[in-house]
Amino acid sequence: MDPIYLDHNATTPVDTQVVDAMIPYMSQNFGNASSVHNFGRDAKVALENAREIVASHINCEPTELYFTSGGTESDNIAILGTAEKYKHKKNHLMVGATEHHAVLETAEYLHKKNGFELDVIPVDKDGFISADSINELITDKTFLTSIMLANNETGTIQNLIPLVGAVQTKRALFHTDAVQAIGKIKVDVKELGVDLLSLTAHKIYGPKGIGALFVKQGVRLEPLFYGGSHEKKRRPGTENIAGAVGLAKTLEIAQSRMEADHKLLTELSDYFILKVQSVLPDVYLNGPKENRIPQTVNLSFQGAEGESLLLGLDLKGIAVSSGSACTSGATEPSHVLQAMGIDKVISQGAIRFSMGRSTTKEQLDYVISVLPEVVNRLRELSPIYNK
Ligand SMILES: Cc1ncc(COP(=O)(O)O)c(C=O)c1O
Repeated sequence: MDPIYLDHNATTPVDTQVVDAMIPYMSQNFGNASSVHNFGRDAKVALENAREIVASHINCEPTELYFTSGGTESDNIAILGTAEKYKHKKNHLMVGATEHHAVLETAEYLHKKNGFELDVIPVDKDGFISADSINELITDKTFLTSIMLANNETGTIQNLIPLVGAVQTKRALFHTDAVQAIGKIKVDVKELGVDLLSLTAHKIYGPKGIGALFVKQGVRLEPLFYGGSHEKKRRPGTENIAGAVGLAKTLEIAQSRMEADHKLLTELSDYFILKVQSVLPDVYLNGPKENRIPQTVNLSFQGAEGESLLLGLDLKGIAVSSGSACTSGATEPSHVLQAMGIDKVISQGAIRFSMGRSTTKEQLDYVISVLPEVVNRLRELSPIYNK
């Protein structure tokens, strides 16, 4: 069997329609959008057209959308940019305990190196945050709260609306990292009420190195870079026209397939969870059964260590992730599972299977057929698993 890729939350192949849309902007239409001549004007038209498409996907004005290099940069601009702007009046920020490192480490940097007060908002056993937790921590000094829309490790979809309400009542800003939600579920900034939102293309069959930050009209922030008037001086640097065109095309395709993909991935993941639990004992689903991005299946195999499982599956031609892809190699159990209160030993046996458009039932059946051998070999070697 061909190699099986079950790591779509780490990244995805670029859709060939997206590649086709991008190629002209790397060859004949290569102009710099800041140039006043014909080449530049064509590039500018393509850039603004892409901005309109991306803006309409999240229901914001094109003037509220800034292209960036991806989720990490958007998260950094949102957090550092507002901190810089508000620091003389407010010095407290809050982030969810299960955020991606792009948010957590940026907030910790502000706290440890710049004297900001930081609170990490606890989550329940499925990764959900309550408005009560926010009310307990928020103060008149809070300038920003950052809580992700969908979690990269467990797929938990946060019910943001009451959380946004709790934060904005205190006249603080709300940022959400929607990197794992965009293109997979409806993301409407007006419905959610958020002030800032990060997105990226490469998790949904778009190119790497392009993303965007939504900044609601009236929200103030300082740029991280200086040296040009691109993106209204909020993100200077010659624009990535091909990337922006690719992001727009990616979202158009995602929109047209969203319902069908969601249905298929729900069926596949329900089937997979049930089957794995029927062929192996002591397998636990991390995260909720409902309100989850269906392509994300995070399972703990008690008595088997995640990294060893990953390598065992890799030898069988199956690509998965243990913990978050960006941190794999770290020996500590995932901070997401720890924040959810999952026992350390169980967390250490966690594997993230993230499915995608190319995933088939046959592929999953193959994974299900090899899992017992890989898991049982590790369980036999385990000093703590003796069932
Ligand atoms: C939730 C989340 N936020 C941010 C990022 C970083 O996005 P990018 O790779 O576009 O910088 C990722 C990527 O793993 C992610 O899953």
